[in-house]
Amino acid sequence: MNSDKKNEIDRIRTSGDNEVAAYLEVASTKEVDPVYLDVPNSPETIIVIDYGSQYSMLITRRIRESNIYSELVPWDIDFDQISHLNIKGFILSGGPDSVSTAGSPTLPDFVINSKLPVLGICYGMQLLAQSLGGEVLSSSTSEYGHSMLSIDEDCPLFTGLPANFSVWMSHGDSVKSLPDNFRLNASSDSAPIAVMSNQQNHFYGIQFHPEVIHTEHGSDILNNFTVNIAGCTQNWTAASFVDEAVEAIKAEVGDKQVICALSGGVDSAVAATLVHKAIGDQLTCIFVNNGLLRKDEANRVIETFNNNIGIKLLDINATTEFLDKLSGVTDPESKRMIIGEAFIRVFEKKAKELGEIDFIVQGTTYPDVIESETKGSTSAKIKTHHNVGGLPEDMQFSLIEPLRNLFKDEVRAVGTELGLPDEIVHRQPFPGPGLAIRIMGEVTEEKLNILRASDWVVMDEIKNADVYYDLWQSFAILTNNRTVGVQGDQRTYGYCIAIRCVAADDAMTADWARLPNDLLAKISSRIVNEVPEVNRVVYDITSKPPGTIEWE
Ligand code: XMP
Repeated sequence: MNSDKKNEIDRIRTSGDNEVAAYLEVASTKEVDPVYLDVPNSPETIIVIDYGSQYSMLITRRIRESNIYSELVPWDIDFDQISHLNIKGFILSGGPDSVSTAGSPTLPDFVINSKLPVLGICYGMQLLAQSLGGEVLSSSTSEYGHSMLSIDEDCPLFTGLPANFSVWMSHGDSVKSLPDNFRLNASSDSAPIAVMSNQQNHFYGIQFHPEVIHTEHGSDILNNFTVNIAGCTQNWTAASFVDEAVEAIKAEVGDKQVICALSGGVDSAVAATLVHKAIGDQLTCIFVNNGLLRKDEANRVIETFNNNIGIKLLDINATTEFLDKLSGVTDPESKRMIIGEAFIRVFEKKAKELGEIDFIVQGTTYPDVIESETKGSTSAKIKTHHNVGGLPEDMQFSLIEPLRNLFKDEVRAVGTELGLPDEIVHRQPFPGPGLAIRIMGEVTEEKLNILRASDWVVMDEIKNADVYYDLWQSFAILTNNRTVGVQGDQRTYGYCIAIRCVAADDAMTADWARLPNDLLAKISSRIVNEVPEVNRVVYDITSKPPGTIEWE
């Protein structure tokens, strides 16, 4: 792959505010194994075995939504990696392969040997059938979409559900004959064996996808499996997570010293607060003000963490250092590299002053972990363009990643549980290189001030209009263009500010937000009135793709 193409992909994969962690991660010159926090009392867990379906992660999410802990693991995982968990059952996901194709993913021995309940979904059902002596029919045609399910017999998967309902199918192959000791429980128009079970051994197979919203009663079916069949108690909550994580962190850290680079973003904030709850002043946070933050941002972070939460926080104002290094630089990727490199050096200097440090906290979350574990190590790629040269050999820490098993909304729930204000917990993502990638061309003090003042207006009006939490991001960009205008009776030649407001579920795709015209008018008029250097405001109506969210 040529390097331009590669950079493009890396950039698209870069998520909201993981920059600080990324700088530090690539900065480790030695391989450092993460510390897997061995939760002394692991919650009851449903293991979802991933066979590559686009819905696999959704199964895990649905189970967690019902307050039961679940992990998604690759089908070829070594049992040792999950043996510390209190496993109550297995779900085998769907997948794009055919069980009859040589080399297709197989059923790990530990699933059947464990004698725990098993639910196979689609490919998972076919695999279960084949592994236990049934027959699977290969088909070159596929069935996608709604199908009516008729339940033939009482089956614990369907307790409390009607005899017929609509389910979502997405399959080619199907089960042709049942394995010994299995019974047929339901059929659909297209799949005569749509549900099968061996209730004595707690093995269940369903051809449809209960995890997608198009399947009626999908969550009830999953609940029937997890609660009624696997016997899980629905007690995995943000509060129980906090209690367990605090115990695990205490046990791991003992009386050692820990540092954390705080960016002000949600993940590092929640991770730091959780670790602080566990070990108090053994944690020191380092906040680097790179001079590329928004108006008042540095003060707000310091105020929240140092004063309100009482975390030991070293705030370093490295504005001059960063701006000196950025002087004359116009290329976006060069800006990123310079900022990353400068960050590492500032961090390194401060960390060294602290003396012996054993652990570093990072706000890695579950999607990053799944990405790297189940689809090859794409997380390494995210960071390649931040590869800015490592910390010296004598500065190696073990990683503590207390959020590595949580999805973003769960991280937020934990943040709220820990008492963090909404302003932090539901904050829009802000990129690590900050305003440097929202100022086209060279970054100067003057341009930073113009952008800060304009961005403040955008944020203020977006919050006044009560749409801040509906938007993925909303901000101003200082274009490098000047345009002619007229203010009073005077001709002006001022800067053009662009406004970017996008809606998104994640940053992979985004749509420009259809904001009310009156709101846009107010933002525009306030900016040209309050920021003298600006005489024109435009609204960016590009979705992603083909545009990106940031302009650089
Ligand atoms: P793009 O512009 O690629 O942005 O559509 C997707 C998301 O990532 C953020 N972003 C970054 N975050 N370092 C970061 O920490 C970066 O270099 C970076 N570039 C983009 C962006 O704000 C959006 O949420």
